[in-house]
Amino acid sequence: MAYSLPSHPFNFLLLTLNLIDYTSLYEHLAVSPLESWLDVLPVQIQQAFDSKRHGDLDEWMLTLKAFPRVQPSSIDLNSSVIRVGTPGDISPRDREALEQALQSFHPWRKGPFDLFGIHIDTEWRSDLKWDRLSGAISPLAGRRVLGIGCGSGYHCWRMLGAGARLVIGIDPYLLYVIQYQAIRNFIGDVPAYVLPLGIEDLPENLEGFDTVFSMGVLYHRRSPFEHLLRLKDLLRVGGELVIETLVIEGDEDAVLVPEDRYAKMRNVWFIPSPAALTKWLKRSGFKDVELVDVTSTTTEEQRSTAWMRFESLTDYLNPENPSQTLEGYPAPRRAILIAKR
Ligand SMILES: C[S@@+](CC[C@H](N)C(=O)[O-])C[C@H]1O[C@@H](n2cnc3c(N)ncnc32)[C@H](O)[C@@H]1O
Repeated sequence: MAYSLPSHPFNFLLLTLNLIDYTSLYEHLAVSPLESWLDVLPVQIQQAFDSKRHGDLDEWMLTLKAFPRVQPSSIDLNSSVIRVGTPGDISPRDREALEQALQSFHPWRKGPFDLFGIHIDTEWRSDLKWDRLSGAISPLAGRRVLGIGCGSGYHCWRMLGAGARLVIGIDPYLLYVIQYQAIRNFIGDVPAYVLPLGIEDLPENLEGFDTVFSMGVLYHRRSPFEHLLRLKDLLRVGGELVIETLVIEGDEDAVLVPEDRYAKMRNVWFIPSPAALTKWLKRSGFKDVELVDVTSTTTEEQRSTAWMRFESLTDYLNPENPSQTLEGYPAPRRAILIAKR
């Protein structure tokens, strides 16, 4: 299938498109069950990069463009730390320039990464979540995988490392797309992409992914059933959903709807028990629903670091009673469930 990018009058956009080249993604899609997405995707990406929405975009792009040109001698996508290159691959001067450039993409929330010995100690040890789910999900080898709300794309790299044929992450927050590009800049044009889109931007009934991940997103959605039904539409028949979300203890009717904030977050709407989420998934038409893990979030997993200098978990908990949030709700506990379409 032939596709062309519409022309656009603004220079910053040309710069954007030059730097983030999605041609190879379009080529993958053209020979996949997701081909129909190409009817709208290039325009959606173009619109998402409209710098009126994100005043810092031009600067981020220039910073990316000015990255030192270094060839990594090794790439490891299968360990806790996504490791690209070694300290010996880069001159001290370039290393310092790169570290400064990477710091300008603060805050780094999902990781960790190591670029030529620069350790990006992110707010979240996202590797711990990966460890909790990777043994339970269907092997990703050869699969087309979608990650909704993928942040910096840490888990996208782990999915590619696990052998996925195509990984697409989406996140509407442009800084995370830039952070992903910062890593991709050194890894090369591999079949893993992070797109500046929200789930609401995905066409209905794509029905083309073998595995869809929705991690850390459900509680931010105002309508949980709408979210679950959208996830189902994205999967091929027999495909697998991996869903991770905040949960509370309780039976299949237990759901917390915070009165206002939860752990200082304004946009938390529904926190079900694992049993309630299981029921919701079945009601939405999913089969073989399985609870894989329930874990309370610790300050080992989520904390402020030199790469994320804002508040973090300890600041959200009641100092007198850390089993509660500042608002008096149960402290964050997260569950992972898998289910089949
Ligand atoms: C709590 S983080 C989870 C990140 C990652 N999936 C993980 O589990 O570590 C939620 C992410 O969802 C993204 N997000 C917010 N609104 C979204 C939307 N409408 N569609 C997709 N992602 C969204 C946020 O920008 C953020 O990166």
